Amino acid sequence: MDRELVERAIAAASRAYAPYSRFLVGAALRMGSGAVVEGNNQENASFPAGICAERTALHHAMAMDPKGVVRCIAVAVPQVKGDAPVSPCGICRQALLEQETRQGAPLRVLLAASSGAVIEIERAADLLPLHFDASFLTK
Ligand code: THU
Repeated sequence: MDRELVERAIAAASRAYAPYSRFLVGAALRMGSGAVVEGNNQENASFPAGICAERTALHHAMAMDPKGVVRCIAVAVPQVKGDAPVSPCGICRQALLEQETRQGAPLRVLLAASSGAVIEIERAADLLPLHFDASFLTK
């Protein structure tokens, strides 16, 4: 099951729109329903307008199914060779954390290296210690 999700992330990377960085990232979500939602990075000539693969997948999934539960996300950058997977940026960690809070259930993260090695993180919150969240907004 995890392997299939990683394969979907790898496939999604091949469809990324990254003409500026040429860094093709793929993500795949496993939803509570069992459905898989893919995403990839979408860049823009106005660089900050671009968006990462993880958030493309996440926002698409939640736009389609606002009560959906994201059980797991796999992230892959096949062009980066070796054992060490690429790690999600800080903004994506924050977005994954928000989703985990929103759904009230753990969101597992699989970081896939091209060697086949996978780092598994049990919950998105583990990727962002001392994070900012909605609790501060009410203080
Ligand atoms: N990128 C992602 O899609 N996900 C990450 O976790 C890291 C970075 C994208 C953003 C940009 O399009 C390109 O990779 C180079 O930073």
